[in-house]
Amino acid sequence: MDNVNNSFDDCVGYIIYPETFKDGNGDGVGDIPGIISKLDYLRDLGVNLLWICPLFKSPMDDNGYDVSDYLTINPLYGTNEDFKNLLEEAHKRGLRVVIDFVLNHTSDEHPWFQKALQDPSCKERGYYFFRRGKKEGDRILPPNNWKGFFATSVWKQVGDSEDFYFHLFSEKMPDVNWANPELREEYFKIAHHYLDLGVDGFRLDALAHLAKDQSFEDAQGQCDEHGLVFDTSKYSNRPELYDYLREFKNKVFAPRHCLTLGEVGGGVSPEEALKLSDRERGVINMVFNFDTAWCNGAFGSIDRKDEDIKTDVIALKRNFLRWYEACHDRADMPVYWCNHDHPRVLSQYGDTRYRDESAKALFTILLFLYGTPFIYNGDEIGMSNADYDKPEDFFRDVSTKNEVAALRANGYDDETITRYLRRASRANARTPMQWENAPFAGFGPCNNVNKVNENYKQGVNVLDQMKDPWSILNFFQYAIMKRREPAINDTVLHGSFSILDFNHPDVFAYSHDGKEHFAVIANLRPYQVYFGFYNHPQDVVLHNYGDVLLNDHVFTLRPFECFLIKI
Ligand code: NOJ
Repeated sequence: MDNVNNSFDDCVGYIIYPETFKDGNGDGVGDIPGIISKLDYLRDLGVNLLWICPLFKSPMDDNGYDVSDYLTINPLYGTNEDFKNLLEEAHKRGLRVVIDFVLNHTSDEHPWFQKALQDPSCKERGYYFFRRGKKEGDRILPPNNWKGFFATSVWKQVGDSEDFYFHLFSEKMPDVNWANPELREEYFKIAHHYLDLGVDGFRLDALAHLAKDQSFEDAQGQCDEHGLVFDTSKYSNRPELYDYLREFKNKVFAPRHCLTLGEVGGGVSPEEALKLSDRERGVINMVFNFDTAWCNGAFGSIDRKDEDIKTDVIALKRNFLRWYEACHDRADMPVYWCNHDHPRVLSQYGDTRYRDESAKALFTILLFLYGTPFIYNGDEIGMSNADYDKPEDFFRDVSTKNEVAALRANGYDDETITRYLRRASRANARTPMQWENAPFAGFGPCNNVNKVNENYKQGVNVLDQMKDPWSILNFFQYAIMKRREPAINDTVLHGSFSILDFNHPDVFAYSHDGKEHFAVIANLRPYQVYFGFYNHPQDVVLHNYGDVLLNDHVFTLRPFECFLIKI
């Protein structure tokens, strides 16, 4: 069955991290029956598009981004039958389902890789990058000096042979060779298989890195203490990428009318992204970039003090504007604060002392910006970073684990490392979803994944917030209902847009003019600020305080106070 609706208009997306979303069978790990049990909740929240992080069979070195069998659902999450059931139940409720499709690498336990290891002359050997190391005296060194994304060399020696294989992420995730047409056909077949089952589209993982500089010459540039150079130009956004994706589009995406979200990390500029997602000439629907994710200096901030970490509100506005200016009228564009690859937005740009106010302010800003908003599971109840107190607590995330090894080797003590991880590790966003004030926050009867955040006992849970009309959850639900009103949706997507008082260092404010005329004003500071507003407010549609302080066109904005105002 092909997808009849491959447009993102009227979409509010919701990102599910299956390992910690909901445990349906009591083994302490989230699963598909758990997700199914929460579909009514998601429909009632008002979202209508689910992006579910990888569900395929995997040894879980990178929690499912290391796939060992694309055609079998991870037994930890359920069966292929459960997956069909999920699609059916989601569709019954008007929820479209986009699955995470990992294309840049497989697990080292995938049969293709296992065959490739055993038989250097087999066809699967050509699915990966195997190269001879460099001999230096008795030692065999990696083929080049490239550094990957998880703080190591991109090369892993095969046993004690002279051969190495290439991996941009963990060493259990060998990269596949998209220059090989047979490999590409394998992926096209898998995509058709899932479209036949009824998925509505794909979130295409690590998309920007599919093409590599196959000369594999050393990178120039600054070396780290191991002589490695982090130079993404060797493997990001290279010209051949567009050829591979055009073929994917011609053979799969276009004939099957499916939704395609490409994840590029920080790998492409808005102009480059347009080459991918331009409605006329592009190859996919939209590009997920990380540009608005780290505007507080937390990334790589081991040497900074807590007090140096402060939201750069102007940078946030500038980054959004760069993407808006490139994409509006020409491409769909996602807007989001957080996913499983970042710390929780409430801890990044909000403030746990103002949990309620900052969760609502951040969401209001996001929801009415041009584009398709995506909520990360848990943001709707104001979940915040993990309350871990030692580096090992973060180790379910392999990238954090590798980073800690590198930091310890460089002499950092565990106290400094922990302080840094508490603000920067992506494991912060992977604690179990907090459903109720019950053991393990109602995630399941036990917990075999990341430790649950104890703040579920202080109202940071779904059930308590359902009962409170002023909760973050009820605010999200009401705000989404407003966002999806046809006149507002049309105005957000097709009206004119301007940032108000761009240089204001504390306030993110903007207006839209179309079928409706409205403004969003939000203070992103935990203290009071002032904001001049020269329009005539007609109606306050959303607000996170009980009364309005407006004097002679100047708003007094209390900590994280926000408005959506019709003008
Ligand atoms: C991006 C995914 O979002 C991330 O979680 C993963 O580690 C890398 N790609 C590698 O697949």
